[in-house]
Amino acid sequence: MAKSISISILLLLLILFMSSLSLVLSVRSIPTDSDSVSTTKQESPTPTPWPEQFHSILSMSYNGSFEIIDLWYDWPKGRNFNIIQKQLGKLLYDLEWNNGTSFFYTLDSSRECRTIHFDVGILRPNWLEGGNYLGQRNVDGFLCNVWEKVDFLTYYEDVATKRPVHWVFYTGRAAHVMTFEVGAVLEDSKWQAPVYCFNKSGEDKHPEFHSHAAAHSNLITAEETAFASSFSDSLPANF
Ligand SMILES: *[C@@H]1O[C@H](CO)[C@@H](O)[C@H](O)[C@H]1NC(C)=O
Ligand SMILES: *[C@@H]1O[C@H](CO)[C@@H](O)[C@H](O)[C@H]1NC(C)=O
Ligand SMILES: *[C@@H]1O[C@H](CO)[C@@H](O)[C@H](O)[C@H]1NC(C)=O
Repeated sequence: MAKSISISILLLLLILFMSSLSLVLSVRSIPTDSDSVSTTKQESPTPTPWPEQFHSILSMSYNGSFEIIDLWYDWPKGRNFNIIQKQLGKLLYDLEWNNGTSFFYTLDSSRECRTIHFDVGILRPNWLEGGNYLGQRNVDGFLCNVWEKVDFLTYYEDVATKRPVHWVFYTGRAAHVMTFEVGAVLEDSKWQAPVYCFNKSGEDKHPEFHSHAAAHSNLITAEETAFASSFSDSLPANF
Protein backbone atom coordinates (compact mmCIF):
# COMPACT_ATOMS: atom_id res chain seq x y z
CA MET A 1 0.00 0.00 0.00
CA ALA A 2 2.66 2.47 1.10
CA LYS A 3 4.78 1.39 -1.86
CA SER A 4 2.05 2.10 -4.45
CA ILE A 5 1.37 5.50 -2.84
CA SER A 6 5.03 6.43 -3.10
CA ILE A 7 5.04 5.31 -6.75
CA SER A 8 2.00 7.51 -7.40
CA ILE A 9 3.74 10.47 -5.74
CA LEU A 10 6.81 9.76 -7.80
CA LEU A 11 4.73 9.73 -10.99
CA LEU A 12 3.00 12.94 -9.95
CA LEU A 13 6.34 14.61 -9.31
CA LEU A 14 7.58 13.41 -12.68
CA ILE A 15 4.51 14.87 -14.43
CA LEU A 16 4.92 18.16 -12.55
CA PHE A 17 8.58 18.25 -13.53
CA MET A 18 7.79 17.57 -17.19
CA SER A 19 5.07 20.20 -17.38
CA SER A 20 7.20 22.85 -15.68
CA LEU A 21 9.99 21.99 -18.09
CA SER A 22 7.73 22.45 -21.09
CA LEU A 23 6.46 25.71 -19.55
CA VAL A 24 10.04 26.94 -19.23
CA LEU A 25 10.70 25.91 -22.83
CA SER A 26 7.60 27.64 -24.16
CA VAL A 27 8.36 30.81 -22.17
CA ARG A 28 11.87 30.77 -23.58
CA SER A 29 10.56 30.32 -27.10
CA ILE A 30 8.56 33.59 -26.97
CA PRO A 31 11.49 36.04 -27.04
CA THR A 32 13.07 33.89 -29.76
CA ASP A 33 9.96 34.35 -31.92
CA SER A 34 9.77 38.12 -31.45
CA ASP A 35 13.49 38.35 -32.19
CA SER A 36 12.99 36.75 -35.58
CA VAL A 37 9.99 39.02 -36.31
CA SER A 38 11.94 42.20 -35.61
CA THR A 39 14.85 40.89 -37.70
CA THR A 40 12.52 40.43 -40.68
CA LYS A 41 11.17 43.95 -40.15
CA GLN A 42 14.66 45.42 -40.16
CA GLU A 43 15.32 43.64 -43.44
CA SER A 44 12.12 45.01 -45.03
CA PRO A 45 13.03 47.33 -47.88
CA THR A 46 11.48 50.80 -48.00
CA PRO A 47 9.48 51.76 -51.08
CA THR A 48 11.31 54.02 -53.52
CA PRO A 49 9.80 57.54 -53.51
CA TRP A 50 8.30 58.64 -56.81
CA PRO A 51 10.55 60.83 -58.95
CA GLU A 52 9.45 64.49 -58.69
CA GLN A 53 8.51 64.51 -62.36
CA PHE A 54 7.65 61.58 -64.58
CA HIS A 55 5.45 60.40 -67.41
CA SER A 56 3.93 56.97 -67.37
CA ILE A 57 1.56 55.01 -69.58
CA LEU A 58 -0.72 52.80 -67.53
CA SER A 59 -2.89 49.97 -68.76
CA MET A 60 -5.95 49.83 -66.49
CA SER A 61 -8.53 47.14 -66.03
CA TYR A 62 -11.62 47.03 -63.91
CA ASN A 63 -14.49 44.59 -63.96
CA GLY A 64 -13.95 43.61 -67.57
CA SER A 65 -13.42 47.13 -68.95
CA PHE A 66 -10.11 48.59 -70.08
CA GLU A 67 -8.45 51.97 -70.45
CA ILE A 68 -5.09 53.57 -71.07
CA ILE A 69 -3.95 56.38 -68.78
CA ASP A 70 -1.30 58.87 -69.75
CA LEU A 71 -0.02 59.97 -66.36
CA TRP A 72 2.00 63.17 -65.96
CA TYR A 73 3.17 63.63 -62.38
CA ASP A 74 4.69 67.02 -61.65
CA TRP A 75 5.34 67.58 -57.95
CA PRO A 76 7.47 70.79 -58.18
CA LYS A 77 4.63 72.50 -60.06
CA GLY A 78 1.98 70.97 -57.79
CA ARG A 79 0.02 69.23 -60.52
CA ASN A 80 -0.95 65.80 -61.75
CA PHE A 81 -2.64 64.86 -65.01
CA ASN A 82 -4.43 61.67 -66.02
CA ILE A 83 -5.45 61.53 -69.66
CA ILE A 84 -7.79 58.58 -69.86
CA GLN A 85 -8.69 56.74 -73.05
CA LYS A 86 -11.51 54.30 -72.45
CA GLN A 87 -11.50 51.35 -74.83
CA LEU A 88 -13.40 52.45 -77.97
CA GLY A 89 -14.86 55.19 -75.80
CA LYS A 90 -14.35 58.61 -74.34
CA LEU A 91 -11.11 60.50 -73.96
CA LEU A 92 -11.23 62.06 -70.49
CA TYR A 93 -8.95 64.59 -68.86
CA ASP A 94 -8.43 64.52 -65.10
CA LEU A 95 -6.33 67.54 -64.14
CA GLU A 96 -5.45 67.87 -60.47
CA TRP A 97 -3.89 70.76 -58.60
CA ASN A 98 -2.15 70.68 -55.25
CA ASN A 99 -4.68 73.18 -53.84
CA GLY A 100 -7.28 70.37 -53.93
CA THR A 101 -9.08 71.43 -57.12
CA SER A 102 -9.55 68.76 -59.80
CA PHE A 103 -11.06 69.24 -63.22
CA PHE A 104 -12.58 66.27 -65.07
CA TYR A 105 -13.41 67.19 -68.65
CA THR A 106 -13.67 66.19 -72.28
CA LEU A 107 -12.34 68.27 -75.16
CA ASP A 108 -14.78 67.00 -77.80
CA SER A 109 -18.12 68.54 -78.76
CA SER A 110 -19.76 67.26 -75.55
CA ARG A 111 -17.80 69.96 -73.66
CA GLU A 112 -18.28 68.27 -70.32
CA CYS A 113 -16.53 69.46 -67.21
CA ARG A 114 -16.83 68.67 -63.52
CA THR A 115 -14.89 70.52 -60.87
CA ILE A 116 -14.18 68.74 -57.63
CA HIS A 117 -12.58 70.11 -54.50
CA PHE A 118 -10.66 67.56 -52.48
CA ASP A 119 -9.49 68.22 -48.95
CA VAL A 120 -5.96 67.35 -49.97
CA GLY A 121 -3.74 67.98 -52.91
CA ILE A 122 -1.82 65.59 -55.11
CA LEU A 123 0.25 62.72 -53.81
CA ARG A 124 3.59 63.50 -52.25
CA PRO A 125 6.54 61.62 -53.78
CA ASN A 126 6.88 59.61 -50.54
CA TRP A 127 3.17 58.80 -50.25
CA LEU A 128 3.89 55.06 -49.95
CA GLU A 129 5.99 55.53 -46.78
CA GLY A 130 4.58 53.58 -43.87
CA GLY A 131 3.09 50.97 -46.14
CA ASN A 132 2.98 47.43 -44.86
CA TYR A 133 5.67 45.26 -46.51
CA LEU A 134 4.31 41.95 -47.79
CA GLY A 135 7.50 40.41 -49.20
CA GLN A 136 8.40 39.53 -52.78
CA ARG A 137 6.12 38.24 -55.52
CA ASN A 138 6.27 37.76 -59.25
CA VAL A 139 3.87 39.98 -61.13
CA ASP A 140 3.66 40.69 -64.88
CA GLY A 141 6.93 38.76 -65.23
CA PHE A 142 8.87 40.96 -62.78
CA LEU A 143 10.13 40.02 -59.34
CA CYS A 144 8.65 42.72 -57.11
CA ASN A 145 8.73 44.00 -53.57
CA VAL A 146 5.14 44.38 -52.44
CA TRP A 147 3.60 46.87 -50.02
CA GLU A 148 0.05 47.42 -48.99
CA LYS A 149 -1.47 50.73 -47.95
CA VAL A 150 -3.96 49.26 -45.59
CA ASP A 151 -7.36 48.63 -47.17
CA PHE A 152 -6.56 50.91 -50.07
CA LEU A 153 -4.12 49.40 -52.51
CA THR A 154 -1.33 46.91 -53.07
CA TYR A 155 1.77 48.24 -54.80
CA TYR A 156 4.41 46.23 -56.70
CA GLU A 157 7.90 47.64 -57.29
CA ASP A 158 10.51 45.93 -59.47
CA VAL A 159 13.29 44.60 -57.24
CA ALA A 160 15.97 45.15 -59.90
CA THR A 161 15.13 48.67 -61.15
CA LYS A 162 12.93 50.02 -58.27
CA ARG A 163 10.34 51.11 -60.84
CA PRO A 164 6.64 50.63 -60.16
CA VAL A 165 5.23 47.67 -62.09
CA HIS A 166 1.69 47.23 -60.90
CA TRP A 167 -0.88 48.31 -58.31
CA VAL A 168 -4.35 47.17 -57.40
CA PHE A 169 -6.96 49.29 -55.63
CA TYR A 170 -9.20 47.79 -52.98
CA THR A 171 -12.01 48.03 -55.52
CA GLY A 172 -10.18 45.59 -57.79
CA ARG A 173 -9.20 48.30 -60.27
CA ALA A 174 -5.71 47.39 -61.46
CA ALA A 175 -2.88 49.29 -63.16
CA HIS A 176 -0.03 47.83 -65.19
CA VAL A 177 2.83 50.28 -65.70
CA MET A 178 3.78 50.15 -69.40
CA THR A 179 6.30 53.01 -69.54
CA PHE A 180 8.04 55.06 -66.85
CA GLU A 181 9.97 58.11 -68.08
CA VAL A 182 11.72 59.78 -65.17
CA GLY A 183 12.05 63.57 -65.61
CA ALA A 184 9.55 63.86 -68.48
CA VAL A 185 7.44 67.04 -68.21
CA LEU A 186 4.31 68.00 -70.13
CA GLU A 187 4.47 71.53 -71.56
CA ASP A 188 2.67 74.24 -69.53
CA SER A 189 0.10 75.07 -72.23
CA LYS A 190 -1.40 71.57 -71.91
CA TRP A 191 -2.23 72.11 -68.22
CA GLN A 192 -5.15 74.39 -68.98
CA ALA A 193 -8.71 73.34 -68.23
CA PRO A 194 -11.13 74.58 -70.95
CA VAL A 195 -13.24 77.73 -70.42
CA TYR A 196 -16.41 75.74 -69.81
CA CYS A 197 -14.83 74.44 -66.60
CA PHE A 198 -15.04 77.96 -65.23
CA ASN A 199 -18.74 78.37 -65.85
CA LYS A 200 -20.35 78.68 -62.41
CA SER A 201 -23.63 77.16 -63.55
CA GLY A 202 -21.79 74.05 -64.65
CA GLU A 203 -20.17 73.52 -61.27
CA ASP A 204 -21.30 71.32 -58.43
CA LYS A 205 -23.97 69.62 -60.46
CA HIS A 206 -22.72 66.35 -59.09
CA PRO A 207 -22.83 66.46 -55.30
CA GLU A 208 -22.08 62.71 -55.24
CA PHE A 209 -18.50 63.66 -56.06
CA HIS A 210 -18.26 65.41 -52.72
CA SER A 211 -19.91 62.63 -50.78
CA HIS A 212 -17.70 60.12 -52.50
CA ALA A 213 -14.61 62.09 -51.53
CA ALA A 214 -15.95 62.45 -48.00
CA ALA A 215 -16.59 58.72 -47.78
CA HIS A 216 -13.03 58.16 -48.87
CA SER A 217 -11.73 60.52 -46.19
CA ASN A 218 -13.60 58.58 -43.55
CA LEU A 219 -12.29 55.25 -44.71
CA ILE A 220 -8.75 56.15 -45.60
CA THR A 221 -6.20 58.85 -44.99
CA ALA A 222 -6.06 62.16 -46.76
CA GLU A 223 -3.13 61.00 -48.85
CA GLU A 224 -5.10 58.08 -50.10
CA THR A 225 -8.04 60.29 -51.01
CA ALA A 226 -5.62 62.18 -53.20
CA PHE A 227 -4.44 58.94 -54.67
CA ALA A 228 -7.99 57.89 -55.35
CA SER A 229 -8.48 61.15 -57.18
CA SER A 230 -5.11 60.83 -58.88
CA PHE A 231 -6.14 57.64 -60.51
CA SER A 232 -9.74 58.61 -61.15
CA ASP A 233 -11.00 55.77 -59.02
CA SER A 234 -13.54 58.28 -57.72
CA LEU A 235 -14.96 59.04 -61.15
CA PRO A 236 -18.55 57.90 -61.46
CA ALA A 237 -19.08 55.26 -64.13
CA ASN A 238 -21.44 57.48 -66.11
CA PHE A 239 -18.89 60.20 -66.77
C1 LIG B 1 -19.34 44.67 -63.52
O1 LIG B 1 -19.76 44.46 -64.85
C2 LIG B 1 -21.03 43.83 -64.96
C3 LIG B 1 -21.30 43.54 -66.42
O2 LIG B 1 -21.07 44.67 -67.23
C4 LIG B 1 -22.09 44.76 -64.32
O3 LIG B 1 -23.35 44.16 -64.39
C5 LIG B 1 -21.72 45.03 -62.88
O4 LIG B 1 -22.62 45.96 -62.32
C6 LIG B 1 -20.31 45.57 -62.78
N1 LIG B 1 -19.94 45.68 -61.38
C7 LIG B 1 -19.41 46.78 -60.87
C8 LIG B 1 -19.07 46.71 -59.42
O5 LIG B 1 -19.24 47.80 -61.52
C1 LIG C 1 -6.29 75.81 -57.78
O1 LIG C 1 -5.36 76.06 -58.80
C2 LIG C 1 -5.90 76.01 -60.12
C3 LIG C 1 -4.77 76.23 -61.09
O2 LIG C 1 -4.04 77.37 -60.80
C4 LIG C 1 -7.01 77.05 -60.26
O3 LIG C 1 -7.59 76.98 -61.56
C5 LIG C 1 -8.08 76.78 -59.21
O4 LIG C 1 -9.07 77.77 -59.27
C6 LIG C 1 -7.44 76.78 -57.83
N1 LIG C 1 -8.44 76.42 -56.84
C7 LIG C 1 -8.63 77.11 -55.74
C8 LIG C 1 -9.69 76.58 -54.81
O5 LIG C 1 -8.00 78.11 -55.48
C1 LIG D 1 -22.53 78.58 -68.93
O1 LIG D 1 -23.50 77.55 -68.91
C2 LIG D 1 -24.80 77.97 -69.29
C3 LIG D 1 -25.76 76.79 -69.10
O2 LIG D 1 -25.15 75.57 -69.44
C4 LIG D 1 -24.77 78.49 -70.73
O3 LIG D 1 -26.06 78.94 -71.12
C5 LIG D 1 -23.77 79.63 -70.82
O4 LIG D 1 -23.64 80.06 -72.15
C6 LIG D 1 -22.40 79.17 -70.30
N1 LIG D 1 -21.48 80.29 -70.29
C7 LIG D 1 -20.25 80.21 -70.74
C8 LIG D 1 -19.41 81.44 -70.62
O5 LIG D 1 -19.80 79.19 -71.27
